[in-house]
Amino acid sequence: MAKLNISDLDVKGKKVLVRVDFNVPIKNGVIGDDNRIVAALPTINYILDNGGSAILLSHLGRIKSDEDKKELSLKPVAARLGELLKKDVEFVPENEGSAVETAVKNLKPGEVVVLENTRFQDIDNDFGKRESKNDPKLGEYWAGLGDIFVNDAFGTAHRSHASNVGIATAMKAAGKPVASGFLIEKEIKFLGDAVSNPVHPFVTILGGAKVSDKIGVINNLIPKSDHILIGGGMAYTFLAAKGHKIGKSLFEEDKLELAKQLLAEAGDKLVLPVDSVAATEFSNDASHEVVGEDIPDNEMGLDIGPKSVELFKSILKDAKTVVWNGPMGCFEMPNYAEGTLEVGRTLADLTDATTIIGGGDSTAAAKQLGIAPKISHISTGGGASLEYLEGKELPGVACISDK
Ligand code: 3PG
Repeated sequence: MAKLNISDLDVKGKKVLVRVDFNVPIKNGVIGDDNRIVAALPTINYILDNGGSAILLSHLGRIKSDEDKKELSLKPVAARLGELLKKDVEFVPENEGSAVETAVKNLKPGEVVVLENTRFQDIDNDFGKRESKNDPKLGEYWAGLGDIFVNDAFGTAHRSHASNVGIATAMKAAGKPVASGFLIEKEIKFLGDAVSNPVHPFVTILGGAKVSDKIGVINNLIPKSDHILIGGGMAYTFLAAKGHKIGKSLFEEDKLELAKQLLAEAGDKLVLPVDSVAATEFSNDASHEVVGEDIPDNEMGLDIGPKSVELFKSILKDAKTVVWNGPMGCFEMPNYAEGTLEVGRTLADLTDATTIIGGGDSTAAAKQLGIAPKISHISTGGGASLEYLEGKELPGVACISDK
């Protein structure tokens, strides 16, 4: 059933509590990538433009000590949000207590307040990890601050924490609405359609270091995809399962049998690299060469080779739906970047297909290439998008009321 969305509700004069995912890369107070803040703007602007006020909650990083608190305050994020919204954004350096209650009480229509990192609640208290272990009292407290709860934190939707599921539970118990924001709605539309209702041919491209990270996705997508193209470090466990020599390449011995099973189950749907760029060391400066399906004993595969690129392109050219998660090689090193970049360029050229990218590395590659505007949807979820592709129900989505 469709989920209730913020656009279904009248927000005029309402204090809208919004869980966003502002978990952005940050170092010494400098934000490395503000994508997730930008992605939350449509929901925030909708509330402000329609006469509501917004109380924003987010986590940032993982808090284990007071030292972490110094580096992981949301203050710089609130400042960046103010620049993007072109308006004053109040930041409260707490997320519970009188400073919060006063700020919320004084909030006027059209105004925004950002509360401090929800995971500051994971230390210094009797409950233990109040946020991450979903202390119901904390969810109730936050729920009490707003008239409406909007969950727009897709990146956190695979977590069942106080600031998403806890608030939703308490809001519902109090008879208040729990809706999705525009970002979660968009993520579910693209990822959901791809998983449950793809236009065929549907091609999944998976890469990254480990088979173990992608088993769930492969299992779920074998029956739905027309082709699953495998690159990256994980390809070598599959090549070993087919009896190839993989030299010093990444290898998960404990996944060898599983790789054999998946190959048997998927038949020729699973497409492996036919060549690799192999190097003697894990270094951009190491001597490297293009080799076939067998890697010499003293070398490791660090990228898919040019024939694999051509093979993948020939399959992708007819695709109508493509989901890509994980790089084809160690693309942070220029000598092993071409496979990943070529896959990105190919997706950008598919003007007649729905193209979806998930995962930090593939997204970084898309940004490096400047192709983001040509991709139908770049997911803001890392773990969340993978779990969605695995076919799992995400607690942060399940907790939103049905229409
Ligand atoms: C993410 O970046 O994947 C989300 O913000 C969730 O963060 P977490 O893995 O620390 O829960």
